[in-house]
Amino acid sequence: MSNNLREKEVLLTLNGLATYFPIKKGLFGKNTQYVKAVNNVDLTIYKGETLGLVGESGCGKTTLGKTILQLYKPTAGEMIYSFEDGPKNLANLSKEEMNVARQKMQIVFQDPQSSLNPAFTVYQSLSDPLKKFGIKSRKERRQIVGDLLEAVNMRREYMDRYPNEFSGGQRQRIGIARALCVNPELVICDEAVSALDVSIQAQVLNLLMKLKEERGLTYIFITHDLSVVEYISDRVAVMYLGRVVELAESEDLFANRLHPYTQALFSAIPVADINHNKKRIVLKGDVPSPANPPSGCHFHKRCFMCKEVCKEKEPELRRFEIDGKEHYVACHFAEENIKNA
Ligand SMILES: Nc1ncnc2c1ncn2[C@@H]1O[C@H](COP(=O)(O)OP(=O)(O)O)[C@@H](O)[C@H]1O
Ligand SMILES: [Mg+2]
Repeated sequence: MSNNLREKEVLLTLNGLATYFPIKKGLFGKNTQYVKAVNNVDLTIYKGETLGLVGESGCGKTTLGKTILQLYKPTAGEMIYSFEDGPKNLANLSKEEMNVARQKMQIVFQDPQSSLNPAFTVYQSLSDPLKKFGIKSRKERRQIVGDLLEAVNMRREYMDRYPNEFSGGQRQRIGIARALCVNPELVICDEAVSALDVSIQAQVLNLLMKLKEERGLTYIFITHDLSVVEYISDRVAVMYLGRVVELAESEDLFANRLHPYTQALFSAIPVADINHNKKRIVLKGDVPSPANPPSGCHFHKRCFMCKEVCKEKEPELRRFEIDGKEHYVACHFAEENIKNA
């Protein structure tokens, strides 16, 4: 765990955050239904930490990230960000405040191809945000882009090349340089290494960790790949159908998986740990549609521990202390799982 996490200064607090997408049904699109992609998320992100966000595809990870970045407007809830001049809700910023926020938060996507214009050189792609950021002299911009390329272990000269002249790993490093060029505080990495070969993944992960230390960054690291998340995260939040169902420090979560969903999700990965219960739990069926989530606990239809109450009553995310560490879990039978952990 990074040293700067000990002070636990809050960077961002999500309170009851929800993002719904409307889907029109019926002849005249009258009966509007909603895909509840993010559905009542409470989460605190501390300065300098890496928060891993995991869960199966479709559980709302990207939507949560994009809502924080104001690429989607939240349906409900607050996102309180600690700016220099005090905390403000990202959901209702003025235009000027929005520009400040846009500089503080950046995203790295899975596919750098889609975020780099093939018709632009690296310099052209990176220089644009710098211009917006107020760096008017071309000489200065070339200097900064060169420095950024070196920071991501690439040669300065590469700035005059086009994206198709690079390998996937190199393009992802350019994507990272681009995210960093406006000096952000919070970087959301959305499946940032998922498309890369395993050997390249390790290089890019090491680079991300190095940059984090050097620049005092905070990461939200979104991935469906649990082996990556254990390696990189200070804390891990597990999402299921738009909700956080478990949250703990990374080591604690890997040692004590309290939610049956986390247990099932994690039992699918090979782990070299003698303390782990190696029994494999097979997840039944697919993630249900977030347009029509099951009653009670959203996980109950796939849960191997399901009892009557789970079908009727939705469990809250409750706080427990395990070996002096806070551990949150949304399961009616959390106590039972703690005993067995
Ligand atoms: N722009 C959108 N419009 C409508 N539905 C969307 C949109 N983006 C995502 N969804 C739906 O929201 C749910 C969550 O998606 P997403 O956030 O991409 O999940 P994840 O990143 O965990 O795979 C999915 O059911 C997805 O189909
Ligand atoms: Mg996604």
